[in-house]
Amino acid sequence: MKHDVKDLGLADAGAGRIRWANKDMPVLESIRARFDKERPLEGVRMSACLHITAETANLARTLKAGGADLVLCASNPLSTQDDVAAGLVEEYGIPVFAIRGEDKETYYDHIKSALAHEPNVTMDDGADLVTAILTDYTDLAPNLIASMEETTTGVIRLRAMEKEGVLKFPVFAVNDAHTKHLFDNRYGTGQSVVEGILRCTGMLLAGKTVVVAGYGMCGKGVTKRMQGMGAKVVVTEIDPLRALEAAMDGHQVMPMDRAAELGDLFVTVTGDVDVLRKQHFEKMKDGAYISNAGHFNVEINIDELSELAKDINRGIQAEVDEFILENGKSLFLLGEGRLINLAAAEGHPSDVMDMSFAAQALTTEYVVKNQDKLSAEVYKVPESVDEWVAKVKLDRMEVDIDTLTERQIKYLGSWNEGT
Ligand SMILES: NC(=O)c1ccc[n+]([C@@H]2O[C@H](COP(=O)([O-])OP(=O)(O)OC[C@H]3O[C@@H](n4cnc5c(N)ncnc54)[C@H](O)[C@@H]3O)[C@@H](O)[C@H]2O)c1
Repeated sequence: MKHDVKDLGLADAGAGRIRWANKDMPVLESIRARFDKERPLEGVRMSACLHITAETANLARTLKAGGADLVLCASNPLSTQDDVAAGLVEEYGIPVFAIRGEDKETYYDHIKSALAHEPNVTMDDGADLVTAILTDYTDLAPNLIASMEETTTGVIRLRAMEKEGVLKFPVFAVNDAHTKHLFDNRYGTGQSVVEGILRCTGMLLAGKTVVVAGYGMCGKGVTKRMQGMGAKVVVTEIDPLRALEAAMDGHQVMPMDRAAELGDLFVTVTGDVDVLRKQHFEKMKDGAYISNAGHFNVEINIDELSELAKDINRGIQAEVDEFILENGKSLFLLGEGRLINLAAAEGHPSDVMDMSFAAQALTTEYVVKNQDKLSAEVYKVPESVDEWVAKVKLDRMEVDIDTLTERQIKYLGSWNEGT
């Protein structure tokens, strides 16, 4: 079995973490038990480009239990858990191509290795496999039944492909499932971004001014958790509705040009490019921390930050680089501008990934069963998937809810009853 991981000697530790994460993933576990019996993915060749974490490992086990012949590669050079990668290879017989800290060339070599598997179903976190297939590996496109997408940035790229008419096979926006983005993006990112920042800086958040760029699902989550730690949050936005929401949630809202002067800590989470750039770095306070939680490392313009610096002290602590500017101020870049919750911590808690990956597994089953009905467009996840995941998650959390009475069902389906 071909693979490329850091050290197979880490496999025992990785397998332990995979089992531990599984304890908080009961929805996915129940799908795995059914997949094991029904084998709905028998004969399907899958390549998945995801953050190689203990939670992803449990998704991989589920897809394999369903009969898929699966290989994995990393969706970010800094998000791989090397012990988990080794555990997947040794304990679960799943080929992995991922090494934490790999350079750009190795990152793309690993994507190439995953595509050498000649998949008929792919799964992406950021649309890198789909992009590679549509550009450099076009001979693979006719084999594709469908691809699933895990994150907002990936969905944005897929919609751009659809608009330009270059999409060659069906893709499913799993990110947009309610049981995904309302929970994973909000609560998962919210908590794990704070964790990543604290792990690498240990800074006191109470009383600090934290500038959050982007008040989408992730930005709302980060803001709420930062507030919970006693920070004052300033939000920057480009969308009037989202800005209004932030203002009415009680935050100061202003352009980055002004916010740059106020922040003790910056978190970009927009899916956009150059959100923090030269004109902002020049205004920042001495000692400000700069981090990103958006998918790609393009939200902070690191080239411009480097150009402004007369000195750079790399690794003054793990995941912290000091940039000493010509104006004498020091700015601290966290996690090389990559997703801070995965670069400096373990990413989202298993409990929330349980829902995201349950939606991924069920959508994979759906595309295989319905392949004859699909065309080359961006699809929503079927409502039945969302409903099932929400119900089972509530059940596993031992939360009961009310059911409609006959009278209520009739009332809600009628129009002629008023005051
Ligand atoms: N760190 C993680 O684990 C994690 C998890 C999920 C998603 N993501 C990524 O985080 C990013 C945001 O995801 P989301 O689901 O919150 O998306 P979203 O679309 O819900 O929100 C993004 C927000 O950023 C705003 N925005 C865009 N450009 C901006 C700019 N220049 N300045 C200020 N605001 C701007 C948009 O108006 C929008 O409100 C994406 O790249 C996504 O892939 C990361």
